[in-house]
Amino acid sequence: MLIAGNWKMYKGQAETAEFCIELKRSLADVEAVDVAVCPPFPSLAVGVQILAGTDIAVAAQNVHWEEEGAFTGEVSAPMLRELGVYGAIVGHSERRQLFGETDEGVGRRTRAALDAGLSVIACVGETEEERERRETEDVLRRQLSVLEAEDNLVIAYEPVWAIGTGKTATPEIAEEAHEFIKGLLDVPVLYGGSVKPENAEELLSLPAVDGALVGGASLDVESFASICLSASRS
Ligand code: 13P
Repeated sequence: MLIAGNWKMYKGQAETAEFCIELKRSLADVEAVDVAVCPPFPSLAVGVQILAGTDIAVAAQNVHWEEEGAFTGEVSAPMLRELGVYGAIVGHSERRQLFGETDEGVGRRTRAALDAGLSVIACVGETEEERERRETEDVLRRQLSVLEAEDNLVIAYEPVWAIGTGKTATPEIAEEAHEFIKGLLDVPVLYGGSVKPENAEELLSLPAVDGALVGGASLDVESFASICLSASRS
């Protein structure tokens, strides 16, 4: 079971330090769950430093496929490795929708990160319109076609209509999508989309749900720790 907190564009170094010190305390006795936080790039180093020696990992929110070069605004896998970062999120729907990332690019980013020794949380998921048009399986199949099952690869199923909307997928929808994904790629699958302390237990108890990628509720130590606790019980 993995619980990862995707902080998106929240928390600079000072807030990250405060959060990590508190999280370390809150999770000191929590067992049987892997936990990762994914701060913005400038806050990664302080996270790594404070969480060193704990089981809480620090991951980035994206990674480029080249090792270095003229790619303004991008960060490479070796740079993240040098910082002591354990992995990266790739292909988040916000990257796809707001910054034009493609399936092909997601495939290249994932490949490079895995080759460099990073773990990857690759995100997939359909929009509301795609679900209404009954295209969910086609979309997932297309998004997953650029990926191969590997030890350090985890998929996050994040239906776009459930992200930041408070609309969580029903257990039936989540379970069905997770089973479909696992049928195509034999790797752990996290659920993402309005996961909160109030719904975590139910979602995490589903047989095909191997953890959660948490956005908004991961920004508050108490609520994030409570989700981690639910995971350790399921
Ligand atoms: P919310 O938990 O805020 O809906 O965000 C989900 C998400 O995008 C995690 O990557």
